[in-house]
Amino acid sequence: MSNPSRLGHLLGIESLSREQIQSLLSLGTSYAAPGAPQRQTTLAGKTIITLFFENSTRTRTSFEIAARRLGADVISIATTASSTAKGETMMDTALNLEAMAPDAIVVRHSKSGTAHLLSRHLQCAIINAGDGQHEHPSQALLDAATIAAHKGSFEGLQVAIVGYLQHSRVARSNVMCLTKLGCHVRLCAPHSLMPAGMDELGVVDGQRRASLHYTLQDALTDADVVMALRVQTERLGDTPRIADAAAYAAQYGISARAMAFAKPDAIIMHPGPVNRGVELTADIADSSRSVILEQVSMGVAMRMAILHQLLGAAA
Ligand code: NCD
Repeated sequence: MSNPSRLGHLLGIESLSREQIQSLLSLGTSYAAPGAPQRQTTLAGKTIITLFFENSTRTRTSFEIAARRLGADVISIATTASSTAKGETMMDTALNLEAMAPDAIVVRHSKSGTAHLLSRHLQCAIINAGDGQHEHPSQALLDAATIAAHKGSFEGLQVAIVGYLQHSRVARSNVMCLTKLGCHVRLCAPHSLMPAGMDELGVVDGQRRASLHYTLQDALTDADVVMALRVQTERLGDTPRIADAAAYAAQYGISARAMAFAKPDAIIMHPGPVNRGVELTADIADSSRSVILEQVSMGVAMRMAILHQLLGAAA
């Protein structure tokens, strides 16, 4: 079974097999190839709703561009302009949207499990564009495609994911995706931002392919890929665990000095939005080793692949 469309939804990386991930990556890579047609009719006549209850720049825009490039009609719901602002529940909003017969809803919400919940109550395809602290599957897929574009294959690659791991859906989806593909993932954070047992997400066929690290030197030595994560102050609540942003940046910010530990051809990634001077120094963010804007471009191609596999005729 190598077609994720049989799942009907894209809820997370956890439920995808290595073959399903590879099939999405190969379709996404074909959409990203130079000269690939920018306009297609694959999804002509389909209606896709993007329903974002949380802020987004890259994810929402790229899903919308991807849907349009495939010929679908796209309706974009901004929650501030919708009835949730008038007290309607998330589920009622979704059921009302479904009554208008869309083919898919792309949803982002601050509560973990939102996409799964909708998939149990709605008939249309549900695509998880980030649910709370749980998963962000399209981000992990575009990150994997970007890594493949630079490194060729995944087997044996050492990938360091650094920073705010505690509430990171990007990190969770990436650990599962990259370890299924054959990478080893080194998770690096201060003790206060390292979720207990996060390395368990990287156990594949009984093999432990993720490890926990507390210093940049330990995590970055001979790494092939360095991925920095945003410090998500909005999820820290009333108990900030970073007492001093400057001290955090000095210990966990990716600088040229930190990158000296990694392999000379190591690439630098970040899902965005970047806080310059916190997760990355500005010179590193703009350096030739940074593939941050390539990740954004790959986001359109991978989201075309996701929509095609879920909604295309061959599905
Ligand atoms: C991430 C998210 O929203 O989970 N951003 C994104 O989708 N590119 C990461 C973040 O906001 O820090």
